[in-house]
Amino acid sequence: VYFEGFGQIIQQWYKQFKRHLPWRETSDPYLIWLSEIILQQTRIDQGLAYFNRFAENYPTVEKLAAASEDEVLKLWQGLGYYSRARNLHFTAKTITREFGGQFPKQYSDIIKLKGVGEYTAAAIASISYKQPYAVVDGNVYRVLSRIFGIDTPIDSTEGKKAFKQLAEDLLDRNNPGDHNQAVMEFGAIQCTPKNPNCAACPFCDRCFALQGKAIERLPVKQGK
Ligand code: ADE
Repeated sequence: VYFEGFGQIIQQWYKQFKRHLPWRETSDPYLIWLSEIILQQTRIDQGLAYFNRFAENYPTVEKLAAASEDEVLKLWQGLGYYSRARNLHFTAKTITREFGGQFPKQYSDIIKLKGVGEYTAAAIASISYKQPYAVVDGNVYRVLSRIFGIDTPIDSTEGKKAFKQLAEDLLDRNNPGDHNQAVMEFGAIQCTPKNPNCAACPFCDRCFALQGKAIERLPVKQGK
């Protein structure tokens, strides 16, 4: 890999600076899944109230499955992208019916669930079950492109492959859930798109972008 200790450094940062959120206090795959679906197109400050509302009304996947779609959509009101709510409800019924209400453990089963793509499957498998799957989202692209100076466009096939490979190479296999969340959280509150906090960054002495004044240029998007 590129340099030793990436996982240690970022997890130490995470321990110190992470926001304390209810889905970080649990390993229940149902709640992790719920949080990841809500956070797909929603900011944490807005998603938090919805997460709490859903977790309170439907503390288990079976309770969610037993609700009517109308009720679920009403609870979702204001979040937008309503297909997320429909898929959430549909998948709760699938898990209740096909897995006896037990959230599936196998990545290959998780990714088959409706509304669950590679990102969400990796998040659930790593955070709930400590399985070695690396997550790649917009935060991960930004953090890795800047620290390691990777200018392959993130919206190209080649770029997607390269970043996925790098994220997997870097992953702390002893602690994949915290590692993944650390990289995402680091992107969300430290290595931000605008005005990242480089002055207080644990990677400041080796960040490619900071040394090369490439913060504004990375990550690269080719657009269309
Ligand atoms: N964004 C979406 N899910 C997240 C998580 N589990 N940790 C940090 N950022 C996230």
